[in-house]
Amino acid sequence: MCGIVGYIGNRDATPILLEGLKKLEYRGYDSSGIAILSNGSIAVEKEPGKIQKLEQALEKNSLSGTVGIAHTRWATHGSPNRENAHPHTDYHQRLAMIHNGIIENYQAIKTRLEANGYKFHTETDTEALVNLISEFYQNGTSLEEAVRSALSQVEGTFGIIVISKDDPDTMVAARRGSPLVVGMGEGEFVVASDVAAIISHTKNVTYLDDNEVAVIHRDKVVIKTIDNMEIDKKIEKISFELGTIEKSGYDHFMLKEIMEQPQTIQDAMRGRLLAEEGTAHLGGIQHEIDSLLYAPKILFTACGTSWHAALIGEYMIEEMVRTPVEVEYASEFRYRDPVIERGSVSFVISQSGETADTLAALHEAKRKGSKVLAICNVVGSTIARESDAGVYLHAGPEVGVASTKAFTSQVTVISLISLLLARMRNIGASKGCEIVSEMQALPAKVQKILDNHEVIKEIAKEYHECHNFLYLGRGYNFPVALEGALKLKEISYIHAEGYPAAEMKHGPIALIDANMPVVFIATKDSTYQKITSNIEEVKARHGRIIAIATEGDDKIAARADHVIYVPATLEFLTPILTIIPLQLLAYYIAILRGCDVDQPRNLAKSVTVE
Ligand code: AGP
Repeated sequence: MCGIVGYIGNRDATPILLEGLKKLEYRGYDSSGIAILSNGSIAVEKEPGKIQKLEQALEKNSLSGTVGIAHTRWATHGSPNRENAHPHTDYHQRLAMIHNGIIENYQAIKTRLEANGYKFHTETDTEALVNLISEFYQNGTSLEEAVRSALSQVEGTFGIIVISKDDPDTMVAARRGSPLVVGMGEGEFVVASDVAAIISHTKNVTYLDDNEVAVIHRDKVVIKTIDNMEIDKKIEKISFELGTIEKSGYDHFMLKEIMEQPQTIQDAMRGRLLAEEGTAHLGGIQHEIDSLLYAPKILFTACGTSWHAALIGEYMIEEMVRTPVEVEYASEFRYRDPVIERGSVSFVISQSGETADTLAALHEAKRKGSKVLAICNVVGSTIARESDAGVYLHAGPEVGVASTKAFTSQVTVISLISLLLARMRNIGASKGCEIVSEMQALPAKVQKILDNHEVIKEIAKEYHECHNFLYLGRGYNFPVALEGALKLKEISYIHAEGYPAAEMKHGPIALIDANMPVVFIATKDSTYQKITSNIEEVKARHGRIIAIATEGDDKIAARADHVIYVPATLEFLTPILTIIPLQLLAYYIAILRGCDVDQPRNLAKSVTVE
């Protein structure tokens, strides 16, 4: 995934574009670049590494002009070096373009163009596209027509912005599979991958849909399909403030987002709990409730942390609604020709709403005739807009690459769905009211755990130099064990594995010794007795134990080397509480190891490539 931003207006474009890139850096940060139209030519500056490298280069070689584009990259084709960094210019040096996505037929395009005399200087697919546009442009078409003609030959995904030295009053943007938003300012327009780069200039935006082209002049925007059909898009108002994107005084976005969870869990429930009736109301899927209630099977598909939330959804819906549930990794689902029973309903879960595998799984589920409902965080994201219906998390931008608040909001939303369906099937008002009451108490319980963060910080000091961790849980807390392990490995680079606790004796127990910390999620629930036996098995092999336990449980405290307490709650809601200490443990260990917790190596916030 990459961050792209373009500007056309009356102000100097360079500072606006640089500021925009910084807001998009979480989308990819292995190289960056900028192109500005000035005095009839295209001035380009590109640097490998983070955006501050580009900023330093521009201090030495400033670019000035009122039209420009800029890009921060997460490499998909070609190593992250200066040559492969965007923007890319065409062979005739008339165009500059930035691109987010993958041109799948770029090699064939490149080969044909080379046969026609075009010379290439990079390993990227993007350069093939900018030269294909150039070929049409050379034949005397307008910039807009050249872009549309070229895109009609492209297979794959793109979010592009193109400028021309011969048409300094126009900027052309287009999307298929990679998000693009057009910000409408006062006498100026800002186009970007997401609103984070736009919000400080205007809150009036238009989201492009697939195969749409925005032709942006200094005084107006014309939006068309690639087939040249003009369309009238609505202008929407961005609902959150710039501050929600900034770190708000925390050292890292990840810590800010962990600490925000009482609020974001509250926001996920806002207006959706009906206390009197002991049920939930979800407008986004209201018209699909019968499809859900009478579905012979419900499928969840997602990636990473979202897949862990899906696993919890399986336990929840099968227990509360008694509908069979299947959970699939999106990357597996999309390629294995899945069998989907008639009437089945599929949930796709995605924080970013742009994950390529999850989007492809959505398409496959639709192709097989399934209703597809999305559980997404990013409003206007591709998955959100291509689903039949869905529920937004309302968690606000999640900037830290390691997902935290999105996970607890996903589980909260799934709890609401389970409550709604269960109340229509087999639980009565009193049980429903008890659930509503417990859900309303969650934000305060999460806050109580967060207030105890110093204890977790101290525990991290003892374990931050370990090389391996084992996370064990049962029932609803088995997916929490997986999520806790993922958090640790993706930000601290320590190897960590999550397992169902009972599975330990089928192999992993061979790993246990004094150097292998074992994190047990051992809350007072239906699996408690069994998991305390597993704790004894680890103790007998001199394993060191960090236990997540229910407040007041002295038994666990007597057996574990460290215990982190969480308040009691209903069993199916415990994951929303038990994951919090594991997020903090991973965060503090990673900080002690000097890792870049917001932008861990090799990762990007949303994986929009296969
Ligand atoms: C989670 O911490 C990771 N960053 C990653 O596993 C992520 O959950 C996965 O890529 C799915 O992203 P999505 O929810 O935006 O689809």
